[in-house]
Amino acid sequence: MADNNSGFFANPVVKWIEYRLPVFSTLDHMVGTQYPTPKNLNYWWNFGSLAGLCLVIQIVTGIVLVMHYTPHTLMAFDSVEHIMRDVNYGWLLRYMHANGASMFFIVVYIHIFRGLYFGSYKAPREILWFLGLIIFLLMMATAFMGYVLPWGQMSFWGATVITNLFSAIPVVGEPIVTWLWGGFAVDNPTLNRFFSLHYLLPFVIVGVVLLHILALHQHGSNNPLGIDTKGPQDRIPFHPYYTIKDAVGVGAFLIFFCFFLFYAPNFLGHPDNYIPANPLVTPAHIVPEWYFLPFYAILRSVPDKLGGVLLMFGAILILFLLPWLDTSKVRSAKFRPIYKQLFWVFLIACVGLTYAGGLPPEGLALVIGRVCTVYYFAHFLILMPLVGWFEKPLKLPASISEAVLKTEPGAAGSKA
Ligand code: HEM
Repeated sequence: MADNNSGFFANPVVKWIEYRLPVFSTLDHMVGTQYPTPKNLNYWWNFGSLAGLCLVIQIVTGIVLVMHYTPHTLMAFDSVEHIMRDVNYGWLLRYMHANGASMFFIVVYIHIFRGLYFGSYKAPREILWFLGLIIFLLMMATAFMGYVLPWGQMSFWGATVITNLFSAIPVVGEPIVTWLWGGFAVDNPTLNRFFSLHYLLPFVIVGVVLLHILALHQHGSNNPLGIDTKGPQDRIPFHPYYTIKDAVGVGAFLIFFCFFLFYAPNFLGHPDNYIPANPLVTPAHIVPEWYFLPFYAILRSVPDKLGGVLLMFGAILILFLLPWLDTSKVRSAKFRPIYKQLFWVFLIACVGLTYAGGLPPEGLALVIGRVCTVYYFAHFLILMPLVGWFEKPLKLPASISEAVLKTEPGAAGSKA
């Protein structure tokens, strides 16, 4: 590892700044040579830094978009068309922002499922997990309000349906909805406040991300084996090993992103949002963006409005209880033969919910939505606690080094 008097730190300009503001040594401890990391992290550990990249892309493109956007019901739709047609590279900016939101959710969903598979939410990383969930909630609020801004048909009707959900709350429901709208319908005051909050919340997310990283650094990263590092032989410095690995991930991610950006920029959107908002014409099917579909399916799987709303919020809140609902002492699913299978069934249930959420709530789609909803909650409330108690985990390796250096008979490097 580099010490603070050699290489980069020997540069006189760096020394001058460092003496007055220890910015370089702080970075070196956060993501540099002085940050020890488990040596066996795989590519699933790339998605945290990718989520950070997505956040930066959203903020930068968003700030430039705002220079040309007008948050008024009479001008919002046209100002977005003006961005697409008249502003230099406005189409690129807008497509980057709209598709960037989808990319952000893809990355964060993978990041969350990685945590579920490798037990990253378990002690001592519970607060790290909670902060992640708070980020997730903030992301959903931000994306929901952002989708309202172009003031197309789906913007308007999506906002109407979702804000109306609060009216299911007994007694105070209706006043809450009026308060949210700033009037008696989704209208200009609603658009204005959504715009204000949509601009604000990403910066709140930045703040929570910093806490998330702080919590991560307290005990360091978990790893695919889910066992703690036992000494320097189990660790390598973050830089250059994981900076380069993260860079490979960024390259792959940008290729994926660019495919949507340049070849299918509207694939993840809804065509109805290219029709200006019209309070007098309700679209045939009101559907949210794809990343909300699982929760939308849970909402509609209950015939009662209040029940649906409670279950939908419950689906997210239940994740806060995960560190206690999972009773197993072993973190990584690699060593948990039964939980490993259940993880995949749970993933399929989530895909089923996404599928059901995109279709009208009738016939087979409703059945799939209901079955998957029941499974979603059963997974956390019944299966997880039970499996933790009854499952016999495989033998854990003594250390990361032992597991990494172990060679199968006949494999390259083995003596067999
Ligand atoms: C803006 C969104 C987010 C950003 C920028 C972010 C950033 C990061 C980074 C850089 C890491 C370390 C690298 C890695 O382990 O992949 C990390 C780890 C982690 N994140 Fe996030 N994160 C975000 C959202 C979330 C969410 C929504 C959750 C869960 C609900 C979450 C849970 C975790 C956990 C449990 C770890 C530790 C993983 C481990 O060490 O195994 N994060 N995050």
